[in-house]
Amino acid sequence: MRTIDWVDGAVEIIDQTVLPGEVKILRLRTVPELVAAIQSLAVRGAPALGVAGAFGVALAARVHADDPVARDEAVQRVENARPTAVNLARGARRAAGLLAQGAAAVLEEAFRVRDEEIAASEAMAVRGADLMVELCGARPRLLTHCNTGGLAAVTVGTALGVVHELHQRGQLAGVVASETRPLLQGARLTSWELTRWGIEHRVAVDSAGPFLMARGEVDAVILGADRICANGDVINKIGTYSHALGARRAGLPFVVVAPESTVDLETASGDDVTIEDRGSAEVTPWAPAANPAFDVTPHDLVTAIVTDHRVIRHDRGDRV
Ligand code: MRU
Repeated sequence: MRTIDWVDGAVEIIDQTVLPGEVKILRLRTVPELVAAIQSLAVRGAPALGVAGAFGVALAARVHADDPVARDEAVQRVENARPTAVNLARGARRAAGLLAQGAAAVLEEAFRVRDEEIAASEAMAVRGADLMVELCGARPRLLTHCNTGGLAAVTVGTALGVVHELHQRGQLAGVVASETRPLLQGARLTSWELTRWGIEHRVAVDSAGPFLMARGEVDAVILGADRICANGDVINKIGTYSHALGARRAGLPFVVVAPESTVDLETASGDDVTIEDRGSAEVTPWAPAANPAFDVTPHDLVTAIVTDHRVIRHDRGDRV
């Protein structure tokens, strides 16, 4: 099952707002429909957003074939639908680079973005599983945060792809999925994917992670990223920084798994990243809220970054 794809002239996604209760396919025929799906998190996760960005430009090219001004405005709307994951604007810009050659060329480029993410997921799963065994020994117990499975990519995923690979090898002793407030990507989406894969797990309330680490209930933290800065700072779902601090205090490996399409050498550090704030209405309509969707984990708290091409180990002096 693919989280996002191009089917008969439209973008089809699994609607992640209604999981795990319902598996519903949404068919998106226009740019406003796609942008609304991105902003409601019906489609989400950095690699999937890159593919959504590229397909969004393909929609714009098709719908506005005779109106370049409307087409370019639509492309801008796709690119800016969410600010933090670098993949969205990157996927959109890649496809937009082919606009002068027509809608068919744009769609071909969007297919390449999709296929590269599928291949990247497969490569990261193998490399990440090897690393986890090297860092933790055979059969680690892992804590993960947010959702980094096939739902966040096209298939397989990033960090959760590694979890799946370890399970397939018989080298996984347990998984804790951190619930990930306020939209519950861990409790709803990660738990749904782990169940489908037959992987036993527990969902932990969000603030429990560092305590479970201190109690010796996990051997490592493994999660994804929305942007990796040139200095190695990791931008990921809010709560990631707390897990990194907990892991450092407990002396546990803290491993980030993300494709090269998430590495952003043009952004020097986490200070330079726009962090999406999703506003009060999503959490406390009765009072003003701080609702940042992401946080910044400083590079010195990260043991390793696994991409589809390499392993970056800060302890060995590797640079992004
Ligand atoms: O707000 P979301 O659900 O799009 O945030 C997603 C995350 O933070 C994921 O951890 C990240 O995109 C890595 S997914 C492979």
